[in-house]
Amino acid sequence: MKIAIYPGSFDPVTNGHLDVLERASRIFDQVVVAVSSDNSGKKTLFDCSQRLELIQENIKNFTNVSTESFNGLLVDYANKIGASVLVRGLRAVSDFEFEFQMAQMNRHLDSSLETIFLMPNEKYFYTSSSLIKQVHLFGNRMTGLVPDNVALALSGLAKKNNF
Ligand code: PNS
Repeated sequence: MKIAIYPGSFDPVTNGHLDVLERASRIFDQVVVAVSSDNSGKKTLFDCSQRLELIQENIKNFTNVSTESFNGLLVDYANKIGASVLVRGLRAVSDFEFEFQMAQMNRHLDSSLETIFLMPNEKYFYTSSSLIKQVHLFGNRMTGLVPDNVALALSGLAKKNNF
């Protein structure tokens, strides 16, 4: 059985992420969306349990997808759950440098874990969680770039903070 891991911060999950996830779910037997709970690197808008919950509501229709948080090194978590493939979404050339570094480092740490890149539909090429946060927190508009529960959560935060 081929288990793939789809890791990220998912702060918050976007339709671009869900597009990549749907593609991965067609290729692998099981896909685990691994939400990084490590907050040493960057400060997140949503805490880990909120990010998990926002994903959870959007994977109900997939029979072979689950989500979980992880801490520490990704290769160790992948090993723990028996994943042999690491899936990352690749949008524009600008993603490449960072993704290449990460894939090489993960390969250095564990050569049995293979990274593959999946491209989302081109309508999501310019979607990123950080741009989405700006647009939704300050603009409160329907963009079609995030699932409904994420749009709701963002407008809730905007109201709470009087943006
Ligand atoms: O969505 P992001 O923020 O680009 O995801 C980055 C993530 C969480 C996949 C990456 O930071 C990660 O793997 N963190 C866990 C710690 C780790 O293993 N670091 C070494 C990776 S080269």
